[in-house]
Amino acid sequence: MKVAVLGAAGGIGQALSLLLKTQLPAGCELSLFDIAPVTPGVAVDLSHIPTDVNVKGYSKDYLAPALKDADVVLIPAGVPRKPGMDRADLFNVNAGVVKTLAEEIVQQCPNAMVGIITNPVNTTVAIVAEVFKKAGTYNPKRLFGVTTLDVIRAETFVAEKKGLNPAEITVPVIGGHSGTTILPLLSQVEGVSFSDDEIEQLTHRIQNAGTEVVEAKAGGGSATLSMGQAAARFCLSLVRAMKGENVVEYAYVEGDGEHATFFAQPLKLGKEGVEELLSIGSLSAYEQKALEDMLDTLKGDIQKGVEFVQG
Ligand code: APR
Repeated sequence: MKVAVLGAAGGIGQALSLLLKTQLPAGCELSLFDIAPVTPGVAVDLSHIPTDVNVKGYSKDYLAPALKDADVVLIPAGVPRKPGMDRADLFNVNAGVVKTLAEEIVQQCPNAMVGIITNPVNTTVAIVAEVFKKAGTYNPKRLFGVTTLDVIRAETFVAEKKGLNPAEITVPVIGGHSGTTILPLLSQVEGVSFSDDEIEQLTHRIQNAGTEVVEAKAGGGSATLSMGQAAARFCLSLVRAMKGENVVEYAYVEGDGEHATFFAQPLKLGKEGVEELLSIGSLSAYEQKALEDMLDTLKGDIQKGVEFVQG
C-alpha cells in the first residue's frame, strides 16, 4: 500500500510522516511531497528509523512520481493561521494549493482515498470534489475532510473536566471543521453527565481549540503535533479498513445531504472507503438548535469551494 503525504515538510506533514513511518503496517510505502527543497532530506531522516515502511521524498517538480499509483493521499499542504485569523482567512492561498494538488491526483491516482487536512476544510473538500467531478473521477466514498482533531480534542477536554482517562472516552463530533460548525454531541458521551454550564463551556472550548493553539504559539503557526496525531489516527483506521477490518471513524464527507452536501458524521469504513453512513443518533435540544444555527455557515463554506472551481 502506498500512502502519499502532500505538504510533508511542514509542521503537520513532518509529525504525520513520523507517526506513519512508525505505525503503518509492514510493507507499506510512504511517499513524501512538498514544494520545500528539504523534503528528500526529511525522507532520508525518517528512513533511518528501523521499520518495514519504505520512505521516499520528492520536491518541486516531482509531484507526479510522488503520487503515482498511491492508495491513500493525505493533504496538509498550505499556509497555517496566525493570531487574529480564522480558518476562512486561509482561503485565498490554500484554495489554489489544494486545487493544483487535486488536479495531479486525477492524473496519477484517480482511485486513491484522499484525506484533506488543509484549512478551511469545510471549503477545501468541496474544491477537491469539484476538481474530481470535472475530471469524471469523483467517488464520494473516497474523499474525506479529516476532522479527527475535533474528536481527540473533545475526548481530551471532557476527560480533563471530569477527571477521567481520555483513552476511555468517546465523544461524537459532527458538522464541519471550523467555529460553530464543529458540534460535539456531549449528550451522547456514555456514563458522563454535564450541567448546562459545562455543556456551554466545553462546546465553546472544543469549537475554539484551534485558536487556543494559534494564540499560544503567538505567530509561530497553528496546531501541528495534535493534528499530526489526529491525521495519523484517521489514516491508520482507513488503512485497516482497506485491509478488511471493520472500523468506525468520524470524517467530513458527502453523505445523504440531509443537513448539507458535506457533513462530518460517523462512518463505517471498508475496502472501498465509506461503506456505510452511520446515524448521528438523537440530539439534545441544545445540540439540535446548534445544528440548525450552523447550517447557513456550513452551506456557505461549501458553496465558496464549488464556485472557486466552477468560476
Ligand atoms: N504543494 C506542496 N506543498 C506545499 C504547497 C504546495 N503547493 N504550498 C505549501 N506547501 C507546503 C509548505 O512548503 C510547508 O512545508 O505546506 C507545508 C505547510 O506547512 P506549515 O507552514 O508548517 O503549516 P502547517 O501547520 O503544517 O499547516 C498546514 O494544515 O491545518 C492546516 O490550517 C492548516 O492549512 C494549514 C495546513
